[in-house]
Amino acid sequence: MQMTSQDIDAVCGLVLDLCGVYLDETKAYLIESRLGTLAKREGCSSYVALTQRARVTGDLKLKQDIVDAITTQETLFFRDNSPFEALRNKALPELFDAKEKTPFPRRIRIWSAACSTGQEPYSIAMTLIDLIPDIERWDIQILATDISDAAIAKASRGVYAEHEVARGATASHLDRYFVREQQNWRISDRVRSLVAFRRYNLHDSFHSLGQFDVVFCRNVAIYFTPEARQRLFFRIADAMAAHSYLFVGASESLMNYGERFQPQHHCRSVFYQPNSDRTMSVGVRK
Ligand SMILES: C[S@@+](CC[C@H](N)C(=O)[O-])C[C@H]1O[C@@H](n2cnc3c(N)ncnc32)[C@H](O)[C@@H]1O
Repeated sequence: MQMTSQDIDAVCGLVLDLCGVYLDETKAYLIESRLGTLAKREGCSSYVALTQRARVTGDLKLKQDIVDAITTQETLFFRDNSPFEALRNKALPELFDAKEKTPFPRRIRIWSAACSTGQEPYSIAMTLIDLIPDIERWDIQILATDISDAAIAKASRGVYAEHEVARGATASHLDRYFVREQQNWRISDRVRSLVAFRRYNLHDSFHSLGQFDVVFCRNVAIYFTPEARQRLFFRIADAMAAHSYLFVGASESLMNYGERFQPQHHCRSVFYQPNSDRTMSVGVRK
């Protein structure tokens, strides 16, 4: 189905409203390749008709299908490797030391915001198990959220094909943290039990989520407008504990956001510690 400029405007507006992902006419090919089948399935003669149906009928399933189709769910186990090295060798040991002086030294809260199909939170869980031999005696929870229902459903199942585990999981990981299930690999109960999955839009309020010691928010903000991106990182900082660590994607940087984020370096990895002075977020719309 050929796209007109009205089609592009209508789809870009709807997608921005549904999930904050910014698209423009340069992404026409992507819109066509991702929404074409959906438009046909719905019997819509144009993309304007598809967006009107989603808006006017308030069809939640159609809205969710559009979000599932348009968002990029590319991910892999231990993506970029160095953030997980930094988590294991620097952030977590420092966090454990800082926690020693608190009433709950073994309570750790981690958030994988935009977890896609689960490889990121499971990689975090494996890193924790590697580091903490008696993890069953700790109070650890990894909250893993994403806006895509389809991604969350797959993540919750925790079953991956051979080509998916081949992207990032080593033979040693397979041996220790996966169970063979016919042609596939299932995440072991020990790893699975550390992660709670939930559908969540990063543009919604974080008030119900609690406070986090570590946040991974990687490779999602790149799809938002610069203003929405900045707002997101400041809101995440507000949801983080006094001594905490924020990991962003390899192509993302918080260096332009002033003193609210203190960069930390470990080998090739840069991650951030939110400054506890919240007045540094002044001027950022919540
Ligand atoms: C490229 S994946 C990144 C996955 C993982 N963090 C990583 O770095 O490998 C981007 C994810 O962001 C999710 N996403 C996009 N917009 C979102 C929003 N407004 N709220 C929550 N998740 C969103 C998509 O569904 C997708 O799964």
